[in-house]
This record gives sequence, structure tokens and C-alpha cells, in this order.
Amino acid sequence: MTRTTGPALALDDLRVSFPSAQGPVSAVDGVSLELRPDEILGLVGESGCGKSTLANAAMGLLPESAEVSGAVRLGDRDLTILAERDLRRIRGDEIAMVFQDPSTSLDPVWTVGDQVAETIRAHRDVSRREAKARALKLMREVGIPSAEQRYGEPPHRMSGGMKQRIVIAAALANDPAVLIADEPTTALDVTIQAQILQLLDGLRQRRGTAVLLITHDLGVVAQVCDRVAVMYAGQLVEVATTEQIFSHPAHPYTEALLRAVPGTGEPGAELTVIPGQVPDLAAPPVGCRFAPRCPFATEECSIRPPLEGDEAHGAVACWHPRSRDREVTAR
Ligand SMILES: Nc1ncnc2c1ncn2[C@@H]1O[C@H](COP(=O)(O)OP(=O)(O)O)[C@@H](O)[C@H]1O
Ligand SMILES: [Mg+2]
Repeated sequence: MTRTTGPALALDDLRVSFPSAQGPVSAVDGVSLELRPDEILGLVGESGCGKSTLANAAMGLLPESAEVSGAVRLGDRDLTILAERDLRRIRGDEIAMVFQDPSTSLDPVWTVGDQVAETIRAHRDVSRREAKARALKLMREVGIPSAEQRYGEPPHRMSGGMKQRIVIAAALANDPAVLIADEPTTALDVTIQAQILQLLDGLRQRRGTAVLLITHDLGVVAQVCDRVAVMYAGQLVEVATTEQIFSHPAHPYTEALLRAVPGTGEPGAELTVIPGQVPDLAAPPVGCRFAPRCPFATEECSIRPPLEGDEAHGAVACWHPRSRDREVTAR
């Protein structure tokens, strides 16, 4: 079957900077990326690399102070230039987001069921009764046992995993084309994390929702992502299939990230094993931002390498990429 539809979401040379005493913090620096309909695209990178900023930009949720350029295309609209009123109509309807901590997304004094129902009523002209019926159906779909009974409970009576399921139910309430999940399982323990990932994968398959799954955990990526975009210090350094990323990473940063995967799978464990640190984004290195930490860096790397490649080989932004054809020795 050939698909003729365009990407579900497209970022086009997106740049975001925040003012600071040290000068503008360049958190997203020229990112172009397409999210295809019904794929799960992983966005990975260490803390402070701009993943959340990219997500917030895609949702039109950046603070007023942020300076944004480039485009965020959802269908034929550019979300970076829409009025807040129009954005509010689109958010929670055509594009929705799930955050790391479900408690911050849920109102503590409202029943969880009503919160899901309200998301529906905010965008659809349906009766309370219909909204409740649909909310219950969603709660069952996201795997909440005894949904009927739990509908009337406040969030604090639920476990972290169950709360995150409610948040996902609310996010999916209006069948968005795009779901952005920013570290949705980081706060959960490993078993629950796996269940939530399976849930996202199942929902994507059944509903055809395109998912941008942000995580610093490559284990999460390996479980459910079709493709992976690797972000370093505000820039994309590699975009390829999950298989390519894990078997033949082309960017030295991707390779370093893979070596740093914590074997224990501690929830929320940060990657600390790559020597050096993410640079200060108020004064990032000129050229390749990874060069100061890169074992292969040469003088050439003071010029920014473009992200180049094709469908078969993936794309990499590096003057000295590792060959995807090489034999890989056991890690
Ligand atoms: N609202 C903000 N105001 C100022 N700086 C910010 C803001 N949000 C993020 N930053 C800065 O942008 C950079 C990227 O942060 P972030 O997008 O949160 O990265 P990640 O999600 O990959 O950990 C960091 O240097 C961070 O301090
Ligand atoms: Mg983040």
C-alpha cells in the first residue's frame, strides 16, 4: 500500500532561544524533523539537550520570553504563528501532550473521570452523558480496571501508573493525529514503565496516532520506537531507524549514548558515563557542538556538519561518521 499523506508533524529549521544574563540560551538550534503518521519516533539525548523545549515549541507552550523561528507544521498550518486562541483549539484536539509527572497534569480536587470527560467537552459539542460514556470507554481502553468505580475517584487515590493512564486517556480523548510524550515513564518503576510503553504502542497501532516519544533512556526507545532522532545540545545529530541506531550508530555521540546505557534500568537514572558535559547553551561550541567531547574530532569540526543522509541509511550530522557497514564488535 502506498501512502500519499504527508507527515503528521513537521519541524522546519526550528530555533528557540531563551534570554539569560549570559546572553541568549540556544536550546533548539535549527532542527528539521518529520513525524510520520502512525509511527513512534523516539527523541533522545542527555538532560539539557533541548528535548522538552522542542516539545513545548511544537505544542505552542513556550513562555512569552522565548524567541522562536522556523516552522512547526501540523497539516497545512504553522503553529509558531497561530494566535493563542487558535492554538488552544488545536491543543488537546489535534495534538496532545503527556508529561513526566501525571500529578502536574491532573487537578487534585476533581474526579479523574470528569477530567477526561471535560477534555472531550472542551472540544466537542456533546452532552455530559455522552462525554461520560466516552470517558469511561477511554479509561477501559487505557487499561484502568473497574473503570466505572474509578471514574469518581480523585487522582490521589490512584498509583502513579494509573494516573499516567488517566493522563493518556485525556490526551487521546479527541483522537489527536499527534501525541507528544515527554519522559512519560521516567517517574515510574520499571514494570509499570513497560506497561505504559506497551499501552502507547497498542494505542498507536489501533488509532494510527503518530507519537513523538521523548526520553533519555535508550531502553525505552528499543522497546517501542520505529525511528530515533538523537539530539545533542540543541541540534539533531542523527536520525535513523531504531535498528540502525542500535546496530550501527553513525554519530560518535549516539555511540557514546549506547555505551552509557545503564544496565540496571534504574527509573529516572541519568546517563553520566559519557566523559565531559553538555555545553553551556548560552555559549555553545562553534561548529559541531559535540566536538569538545568527541574522540574523533578534528579541525574540520569547527564548521557545523549538516544533517545528511537518505531513507536507507538514515541521516547523520558529522564530518567523521562511523560507517553503517562496519562490523560491530560486541558491546
Ligand atoms: N523556560 C526556560 N527559560 C530559560 N531557559 C530554559 C527554559 N527552558 C529550558 N531552558 C534551557 O534550555 C536548555 C534545554 O533544556 P530542556 O529543553 O529542558 O532540555 P531537556 O528536555 O533535553 O533536558 C537548558 O539549558 C535549559 O536550562
Ligand atoms: Mg526534558
